[in-house]
Amino acid sequence: MADVTLENVGKTYGKHRIISDFSVTIKDGECFTFLGPSGCGKTVILRLIAGFERLTDGSIYIGDRLVSSAEKNIHLPPEKRKIGMVFQDYAVWPHKSVSENIVYPLQMQKIETAEAKERTLSAVKLVNLTGLETRMPFQLSGGQQQRVALARALISKPRVMLLDEPLSNLDANLREEMRFEITSLQKQTGVTILYVTHDQEVALAISDRLAVMDKAGRIRQIGPPDDIYEKPIDPFIFKFMGISNFIPLEYRNGQLFIRDSNALLGCPVTDGSLERLQSHELVVGCRPYDIELIHKEGHAQGTIQRIIYLGATIDYRVAVGGKILRVQQDVRDAGQGGIPFRTGDPVGLKFRDLKWFENRGMDEEGES
Ligand SMILES: Nc1ncnc2c1ncn2[C@@H]1O[C@H](COP(=O)(O)OP(=O)(O)OP(=O)(O)O)[C@@H](O)[C@H]1O
Ligand SMILES: [Mg+2]
Repeated sequence: MADVTLENVGKTYGKHRIISDFSVTIKDGECFTFLGPSGCGKTVILRLIAGFERLTDGSIYIGDRLVSSAEKNIHLPPEKRKIGMVFQDYAVWPHKSVSENIVYPLQMQKIETAEAKERTLSAVKLVNLTGLETRMPFQLSGGQQQRVALARALISKPRVMLLDEPLSNLDANLREEMRFEITSLQKQTGVTILYVTHDQEVALAISDRLAVMDKAGRIRQIGPPDDIYEKPIDPFIFKFMGISNFIPLEYRNGQLFIRDSNALLGCPVTDGSLERLQSHELVVGCRPYDIELIHKEGHAQGTIQRIIYLGATIDYRVAVGGKILRVQQDVRDAGQGGIPFRTGDPVGLKFRDLKWFENRGMDEEGES
């Protein structure tokens, strides 16, 4: 298996610059995700690594081998890169059976029949399709077709698997099941996986590390899932990773308020941030479940504007200090303490966790 290294990679189409100065190393055997908004260049990056596209600048290494270099005019063709790729629309051939689809890359490589048969059997087993070998794609569910595509990509024993949004056409249950399958495939084979998605939940679930990209195709933060989620470096990441409130603040009489209001936040100002707070250099982010709703007085007072039942949670929009905040409550907590909230009810808010950010990165979400 192999590391994948991108060094100062750039790509333009005509006058359009899609990627600039893009550098990252994906470690051998790692499941690494590029997470970013639609159009930021994720598929282009995978196509550059696979060798379907030529670089405009920089170089790409797979293991020790320099496979693409703009400066040295090197471009190893895709079939020599030992890469397996699965695309978003999984593209299985409709006129070939499961095993015919899976064995196809080996036929192209002129691998002798006995070996091809054996490897097909083990690939079928690896993706849990045993018993379905003779079925045609129209006789398979979306998830089963996706497994055919995975097996077909794995059969050539690639050093690296490139997976481009492979789960986006599946329903929520299947998506969850396939997430497990991909992680367990990786454990069994040790293959390096590069996964591309705009779905933060999938990225958090499957990745050893992930890179969050902005609209301009720049990497904003790289790290393991819990770091990205718990320690986002800027408001853009915080917003991209889940439902978020950004609250403008004001410091008066030794206390913090929602700006231009009497709504009290009831939390301490962090060291040295007072001056910057007053010049609006700081902004505070808050997740919906980090705000507690209480019936008692003595905290920021708001009014419930809308309630949506989501099964495990209840989602509220609360008007407070001239702002609307999203608040979420575990459905079991809503029943406790007597009376559940109703639209129009006055409510007290208690802020449990606030994340402090420099007041930038919000407006410049990477549009260029
Ligand atoms: N062959 C091409 N010629 C010109 N522009 C292209 C080409 N391929 C991609 N682009 C442009 O490059 C940008 C990045 O595209 P890309 O497909 O990598 O986005 P993405 O991050 O994969 O988005 P999505 O999440 O929607 O799949 C887009 O603006 C797209 O229009
Ligand atoms: Mg794409």
